[in-house]
Amino acid sequence: MRYRHVGRAGIQVGELSFGSWVTFGTQVDVDAAAAMLAAAYDSGVNFFDNAQVYAGGKAESVMGAALAKLGWRRGSYLVSTKFFWGLHDGPNEKNTLNRKFLIEGIDGSLQRLGLDHVDLVYCHRADPATPIEETVRAMHSIIERGKALYWGTSEWTAAEIVQAIEIAERHHLHKPIVEQPVYNLFEQHRFAPEYLRMYEDYGYGSTTWSPLASGLLTGKYKAGIPKESRGALPGYTWLADQLTDADKAARVAALEPIARAMGATLAQFSLAWCLQNPHVSSVITGASRIEQLRENLRAADFVDRFTPEIMGEVEAIFDGSRAGGSA
Ligand SMILES: NC(=O)c1ccc[n+]([C@@H]2O[C@H](COP(=O)([O-])OP(=O)(O)OC[C@H]3O[C@@H](n4cnc5c(N)ncnc54)[C@H](OP(=O)(O)O)[C@@H]3O)[C@@H](O)[C@H]2O)c1
Repeated sequence: MRYRHVGRAGIQVGELSFGSWVTFGTQVDVDAAAAMLAAAYDSGVNFFDNAQVYAGGKAESVMGAALAKLGWRRGSYLVSTKFFWGLHDGPNEKNTLNRKFLIEGIDGSLQRLGLDHVDLVYCHRADPATPIEETVRAMHSIIERGKALYWGTSEWTAAEIVQAIEIAERHHLHKPIVEQPVYNLFEQHRFAPEYLRMYEDYGYGSTTWSPLASGLLTGKYKAGIPKESRGALPGYTWLADQLTDADKAARVAALEPIARAMGATLAQFSLAWCLQNPHVSSVITGASRIEQLRENLRAADFVDRFTPEIMGEVEAIFDGSRAGGSA
C-alpha cells in the first residue's frame, strides 16, 4: 500500500481506503465486517469511512463492534464519520449543520463506534440555512474537545470551502483540510476543474467516493440487475436507472478490452484510473463481499501500467459522459 498525505496536512492515508455506505448494517453483519476490515487492514488500508446516517446509525454500530473484536492499536488506523441528514425528524436534527446537531451528533457517533475520537469528521453536505461561521466554530469545538482530529467537507462547492477556510483563518480556528467528492469515470466534473484550485492553492485533500459508480464500473449490470446487488436492494431503486442505462453500459463494454489487455478486471482498472490523479488522497472502495474487497485492493498493482495512450483511449470513451446525482 502506498500512503498519501491528505492534501498538505500531516496525516497520511492509504491510497485505497474502505467505506461502509449501503453495506455495513444492511448487507454486512458484524462478523463479515470484521473479516473485511481485517482483510483491508492486512493489505495496508488504514482509513475506514463511515457516517451517522448510514443504515440509520447501524453502520457505525457494526463498525464499532467489529473494531472492538479486532482490537487494533488505535494509532494504526483512522476512522471517519459525517453529519448532515440526521437520524431523527425535527427542526434541528435533519438536513442541518447547526451547532447543537453537530456537537450532540458526534457524541452519538463515538458511542456507536466505541471510540474516544474519530480521526476525520466531515460535513456530509453544505447547509445553506446555517451560517458557515456557525458550522466552522462547531467543528472547531469538536476538535478542541478531542472528539475529532481533523475536519472536512463533502460535496461542498469550492466557494463554500474557501469561505470556511477564510473564516477559520480569520478567527484562528481549525480549518477544514479535506473534501469528500464523488469521483469515477462517469463523474469527473466536480473533482476537476471545480476543486483544482482547492488542491493547488489551499492544499486541500480529497477522499473520493463511489469509484465504481455503485458497481456499474465492474460490468455486473450489463445483463440487467443481478439479484444479489446494490441495484436490487429495497430502497435503492433510484439507482436502477443509472445502473441499467444503455449509454453507460456501452461505455463500460468499450472499457472491457482495455482493462483485459492490462490484465486487470474492470473494477481494478476503474479504481486504478482514479489513483492516477495526484490530487486524490485516497479512493474509498466499497464492497458487500470479501472477495470483491480482495479484488479491489489489488487495483494498486495496475496504477503504474497506465500509459498516456491508455489514458487517451479512456478519455475518448468517457468524453461527454456525465452521470446525474449519485448518493
Ligand atoms: N460523502 C458521500 O456523500 C459519500 C457517498 C457515497 C459513498 N461514500 C463513501 O464512499 C464509499 C464507497 O462508495 P460506494 O460504496 O458507492 O463505492 P463503489 O465502489 O462505487 O460501489 C461499491 C459497491 O459495488 C459493488 N462492488 C464493489 N466491488 C465489486 C467487485 N469487485 N465486483 C462486483 N461488485 C463490486 C458492491 O455492491 P453489491 O455487491 O451490492 O452490488 C459494492 O458495495 C462508501 O462506502 C462511503 O464510505 C461517501
